Amino acid sequence: MYLDFYKLKESPFNITSDPDFFFRSRHHLEALSAILYGIKQRKGIILVTGEVGTGKTTLCRAMLKELPVDTVTSLVLNPYFSEAQILKAIIEDFGISAARFSRLDLINTLNMFLIDISSQGKNAVLVIDEAQNLSLRQLEQVRLLSNLETEKIKLLQVVLVGQPELNTKLSLESARQIKQRISVKYHILPLTGEEIGKYIEFRLARANGGAVKFLPETFSLIYNFSKGIPRLINIVCDRALLLGFSKGKHVIDSVMIEKCIKELQ
Ligand SMILES: Nc1ncnc2c1ncn2[C@@H]1O[C@H](COP(=O)(O)OP(=O)(O)OP(=O)(O)O)[C@@H](O)[C@H]1O
Ligand SMILES: [Mg+2]
Repeated sequence: MYLDFYKLKESPFNITSDPDFFFRSRHHLEALSAILYGIKQRKGIILVTGEVGTGKTTLCRAMLKELPVDTVTSLVLNPYFSEAQILKAIIEDFGISAARFSRLDLINTLNMFLIDISSQGKNAVLVIDEAQNLSLRQLEQVRLLSNLETEKIKLLQVVLVGQPELNTKLSLESARQIKQRISVKYHILPLTGEEIGKYIEFRLARANGGAVKFLPETFSLIYNFSKGIPRLINIVCDRALLLGFSKGKHVIDSVMIEKCIKELQ
């Protein structure tokens, strides 16, 4: 691989959702503030949407690291489950275990846990990623969970994160109850043309990339190809590093980027 050649400590354009590589673009920062506000103010249900590859999962992971220490969290990444299974996954990720596994038992376990957390003055957050895959029944289940409250406060803050289809689903007549409960909403847009260069340099710096440079002339080409979607930026940049390595070059220029883009199309 090219890591030694460029003196990198890890691959700068991995397509995983590593929060250590989280770049605070204008939209990601706004989304982060909106979610943190909703959680801290105990707003109940928070909705975050964005096109494929815009950084929703990365944002969730970065957000979890910024929560106050008195917040307990549960992150459900792949909600292809039945209602009982989803409750079980939520409970397990909170780090508790249930004695019985019927839907009602699970809800009781969760309720008792949340009351206990609240009596300690703590807050509880449930993040469901890929929430566009939730069925209407599961969405209804989520609404019921967010209903758990004392006279004064919501016990559980729910962050629903998903692709734009989630909005379509929430617009259905049968989802109107949960839709009405959404009190904070943010749609993540891709990076702007001006942010591309900063994003690339940020990710290179994070990976210790002193021995490689993308010329500024490459940024507009990368923007035209990716339309600012981080996953696509990563794919083309990773390919460019590989090409540079094979040619023994530490500087990535527009001819190289054009070649990579052609190969990807
Ligand atoms: N703000 C960001 N800072 C750094 N890297 C980012 C950012 N947003 C996205 N990325 C990178 O882009 C890629 C895709 O991000 P991620 O998986 O979070 O997107 P997603 O919106 O969850 O996609 P999907 O809709 O497929 O679930 C990852 O490699 C991630 O590291
Ligand atoms: Mg994702």
